[in-house]
Amino acid sequence: MSATASLKNTGLEGVSAGNTAICSVEQGALIYRGYEIHDLAQNATFEEVAHLLLVGHKPSASELETFKAELRAERPLPRAAEDYLVTIRPAIEAGHADPMDVLRTCVSIIANHDPDCQVMTHEANLRKAKRLTAQIPTIIGHMQNVIDGRELVRPDDSLGHAANLLYMITGEKPSEQAARVIDVSLILYAEHDYNASTFTSRVISATMSDLHGAVTGAIAALKGPLHGGANEAAMRMLAEIRDHVGPDNDEDAITAWMHRAFSEKRKLMGFGHRVYKNGDHRAGILHALGKEIAREKGPEAVKLFELGEIVQKIMETEKAIYPNVDFPCGMTYYVMGIPVPQYTPIFVAARITGWAAHIMEQHDNNRLIRPVSTYVGPDLRKWNDA
Ligand code: CMC
Repeated sequence: MSATASLKNTGLEGVSAGNTAICSVEQGALIYRGYEIHDLAQNATFEEVAHLLLVGHKPSASELETFKAELRAERPLPRAAEDYLVTIRPAIEAGHADPMDVLRTCVSIIANHDPDCQVMTHEANLRKAKRLTAQIPTIIGHMQNVIDGRELVRPDDSLGHAANLLYMITGEKPSEQAARVIDVSLILYAEHDYNASTFTSRVISATMSDLHGAVTGAIAALKGPLHGGANEAAMRMLAEIRDHVGPDNDEDAITAWMHRAFSEKRKLMGFGHRVYKNGDHRAGILHALGKEIAREKGPEAVKLFELGEIVQKIMETEKAIYPNVDFPCGMTYYVMGIPVPQYTPIFVAARITGWAAHIMEQHDNNRLIRPVSTYVGPDLRKWNDA
């Protein structure tokens, strides 16, 4: 290849990077181990889906009870992680640390205290996966408590996974409806085949590196606004539009804002997808639930959803670009009062199950992932030539 060839990348679009039995992402359907996402969102709980992904099958009633008890038992963090978390407020306030960075660092710290950290057997990986699934909500909760300047809210064993996550963040026991909305959002976020962060985790684990290390790499990949960071970016964008157009959702003003964004070639956050060119299966599910909870919260919350719907309509009619799951997620978490910087960490609380399932699948069937590249650099030359 000559030096004049382009550096423009294809982003591996349409390339199958490997086989998996965990998930299928297609325009026609999103499927976790044979179960379609609407079915799961309607009929399963996050703990059941986590078992499906991690253990590999739908749990029986007794398997589910055991699994839930294991998760509850693993919720508290090692002392070293708590000692770190209580120091993070100045770095976050200074803007040097993002909650996703804090979460990533905390996963590294707890790795040092996990007796299985250096063991790569399937059994050890499963134990580590369960621990991280249980511990990540505690990291998020404690982090938010420190940011808010309050005592750490300890996990509540009487609460399920989603309700406990919300409780630890806010210090208040959530309503059944709020807990269910979070639960469904965790189901929707749990798994998505070879997305950027999962692929990262597979590349790392394919060197036979450890699960915690692969998860820290995946967290770094998820943080970016083109991937998981889009749920926060989508809400920030909506807030910007709301500030610009005023409280009445004036459609002409919204259209003008969007036309300016189009002319500036600005990416609208929470829209578009590499695979779903005609719409994301998860977006409609979360939008409906989010709007329901917005109605409970009052007119301001409903107005936010109405603003989102106008933005969505303009994107669809003028650009044929559809919302992905992060668009309704941003609005839903916002009307529930969750601090915006915790939206992507909550995504991690769900996707840990998908990542861990892929890391185990990779370790159990491993071959080093090492693609090749096309060289487009300078032609051969001599160091001692002028
Ligand atoms: N706003 C405006 N234009 C867009 C958008 C958007 N959100 N998404 C795609 N386009 C345009 C893009 O500019 C391109 O136009 P042109 O052909 O004129 O250059 C065309 O649509 C095709 O898009 P693409 O660049 O081929 O899309 P991609 O597959 O490379 O990127 C994406 C997918 C998700 C990175 C992109 O749609 C995007 O940046 N979206 C905004 C960020 C976002 O919401 N990310 C969340 C992804 S899904 C869930 C998750 O992982 O969390």
